Amino acid sequence: MRVQVAIIGAGPSGLLLGQLLNRAGIETIVIENKSQDYVLGRIRAGVLEQGTVELLEQAGVGARVHAEGLVHHGIELCFGGARHRIDLNGLSGGKNVTVYGQTEVTRDLMNARQEAGATLIFCAEQVSVHGFDTAKPSVRYVKDGVQNEIHCDFIAGCDGFHGVCRQSVPTSAITTHERVYPFGWLGVLSDTPPVSDELIYARHERGFALCSMRSRSRSRYYIQCAVDEKLDTWSDQAFWDELRRRLDEKAADMLVTGPSIEKSIAPLRSFVAEPMRFGTLFLAGDAAHIVPPTGAKGLNLAASDVHYLSSAFIEFYESRKPGALDTYSNKSLRRVWMAERFSWWMTSLMHKFPDAGSFTENMQLAELEYLLGSEAASTALAENYVGLPF
Ligand code: FAD
Ligand code: DHB
Repeated sequence: MRVQVAIIGAGPSGLLLGQLLNRAGIETIVIENKSQDYVLGRIRAGVLEQGTVELLEQAGVGARVHAEGLVHHGIELCFGGARHRIDLNGLSGGKNVTVYGQTEVTRDLMNARQEAGATLIFCAEQVSVHGFDTAKPSVRYVKDGVQNEIHCDFIAGCDGFHGVCRQSVPTSAITTHERVYPFGWLGVLSDTPPVSDELIYARHERGFALCSMRSRSRSRYYIQCAVDEKLDTWSDQAFWDELRRRLDEKAADMLVTGPSIEKSIAPLRSFVAEPMRFGTLFLAGDAAHIVPPTGAKGLNLAASDVHYLSSAFIEFYESRKPGALDTYSNKSLRRVWMAERFSWWMTSLMHKFPDAGSFTENMQLAELEYLLGSEAASTALAENYVGLPF
């Protein structure tokens, strides 16, 4: 089989790239090693930047995010027992974020791909990439015991942090930068009304907490936990009790609890691989970089990579000129490092660092006070949170 672009991974970046290319008449295949149910059951991001929503519109999948997504004009920061609102809309010149689950983005894109009749392979085993130092790369995989080989012009590595694409690049050709944080996030999804209309990011002596949501009747909450915490030691009751302790009194009183419908622990990491192009292999999304989730940037960064990469492929097939493909890596990385900075900053500001002393804690509090008192500082938070332009 032959296609123009072979896409590895059916997460948000692979599916969105496939959809944008498909609409431009470029032939693609998407190859995913997990099942469709597994991909759709993975609870992850919930906050979309305005630019991400616009890209979904451009991909022809904007209807449901507009109908069902919750537009948020602000967030709340909670510390010292009180909540303080950051007016994202007012401080960013009228921009907003939309609360809409990654699972729903993925579902919309999978449906669009199916309607378009474009190929999407699930449960592909032994996926491997070959010849990307040449103009004739290929992808091999096993499906139902049968070995397949796809010949293509380009491979898009959209296979996440643990994927095969980045790992297939010779170590001498790639530079990585990493920071692993000494804590994780324990997340709970529950069919209970959210504690507040807007997201609450809480800094507390016991650790960070985040109150988010998926709809008016479904909540998503996170608490900072030890990195080696065992999930089965956290009963629902223990989770709710700990969350309540980290919120202000009013939020703690208002919190509606119920059985968890999903519970998981995520490690926190900052990671960047440079460059993002190796011959005819291009990396996008978590395959190339990871941000700690505090700034809600991971999925949005995957979307901006896909914007640059899809435009570059489209320009190449329209003009046969490689200019945009050649600048893809540098252009994407410039925005990646900005999002890395913001995510690292917000993580450092809001979490309890196990070995930090009173100086670091006072720095956090001083920075929070400054944020609230200075329009310049809160504007900087707002413009990064709603998303830098791309
Ligand atoms: P992935 O979603 O990881 O998709 C990669 C796909 O490739 C997967 O389906 C995987 O199964 C597949 N794959 C892997 N290896 C292979 C292989 N060998 N062959 C074929 N397929 C393969 N981001 C935000 O923007 N906002 C948020 O609010 C937010 N919150 C988050 C909360 C949590 C708890 C976590 C863990 C993450 C959060 N993120 C958030 C980050 C966001 O979920 C990721 O950045 C996003 O999923 C990246 O998309 P992707 O398509 O690049 O990678
Ligand atoms: C969610 C996750 C985040 O990392 C964040 O900053 C905000 C919201 C969420 O899953 O809803």
